[in-house]
Amino acid sequence: MNVHASALAEAHLPDEQTTAFARDTIGDLSQQPKKLSPKYFYDATGSELFEAITRLPEYYPTRTELSILRERGSEIAKIIPEHAALVEFGAGATTKVRLLLKHCRFAAYVPVDISGDFLQEQANGLRRDFPSLGIHPVAADFTAPFELPSAVASLPKVGFFPGSTIGNFEPHEAQAFLRSAREILGRGALMIVGADLEKDERVLHDAYNDAAGVTARFNLNVLVRINRELGANFDLSAFIHRAIYNREQHRIEMHLISRKSQTVRMLGTSFSFRPGESIHTENSYKYSLERFSALARGAGWRVRESWTDAARMFSVHALVTSE
Ligand code: AVJ
Repeated sequence: MNVHASALAEAHLPDEQTTAFARDTIGDLSQQPKKLSPKYFYDATGSELFEAITRLPEYYPTRTELSILRERGSEIAKIIPEHAALVEFGAGATTKVRLLLKHCRFAAYVPVDISGDFLQEQANGLRRDFPSLGIHPVAADFTAPFELPSAVASLPKVGFFPGSTIGNFEPHEAQAFLRSAREILGRGALMIVGADLEKDERVLHDAYNDAAGVTARFNLNVLVRINRELGANFDLSAFIHRAIYNREQHRIEMHLISRKSQTVRMLGTSFSFRPGESIHTENSYKYSLERFSALARGAGWRVRESWTDAARMFSVHALVTSE
């Protein structure tokens, strides 16, 4: 057993999820450069802070995607078969899916998310508003293969992956995800994907360095979560938020920068930081229409249609299977 495995074994963590969080965090902070997975941003506080981000004047993605779905809803509906099953990969707020449900006659809705509680709440709200819709939540990690409920086996399938969540993946992971979605949905399926577009660097910079400091709090909150759930002793005032655009890699990078030389303890392990040393907490990849189309092609899909807003800030793609 290596030093980290023994620290984990002795930690007496309350459940499997916390154990996975501890394993990932210790592994990622032991790397050079240090990093953390963006999937751990979303505890209760993190989810609230993200909601606050979506309302910031500088953060255009959410409201732009919503405006595309609203304005192009009837066009999108035209290419969606009637009485299909809508499979949403990762289920957040129901605002976006409601726009699709309003415009198209779906027979079933299959939200897929690791958080079962959240799924149940979401399903109840939708049952009230769409009483004839069959709702079949699946509690699973949507990045790994999973079975669709047998109730939707005979229906045409439409995947839905909004929010530019695909931008959090490395391009090879994004391609693997699209390929896995292609396998799960089957030949003849359709997939609607939201992807943030490459644009003026100042616009990108401001969207991730908002004047009110909400993104900074969102980024730092992952350390608050590590302190609370894993018993670490991160000093929040000793780290600062930084978001930069990496032009070569077409991505926004979020970092937490150590303001001084310091050592942080967690689960019997210590992590030393040099002054100015970074923890790389998130990548948010931006795709031109061409690069997104190439990504989809490599995963067994073809772009049937792409919609953008007038200012070309955000894109919504309809993919059809090619193999
Ligand atoms: C939820 C991954 C799409 O990358 O823009 C917002 C997360 N990070 N501000 C994004 C985020 C900082 C967001 N995604």
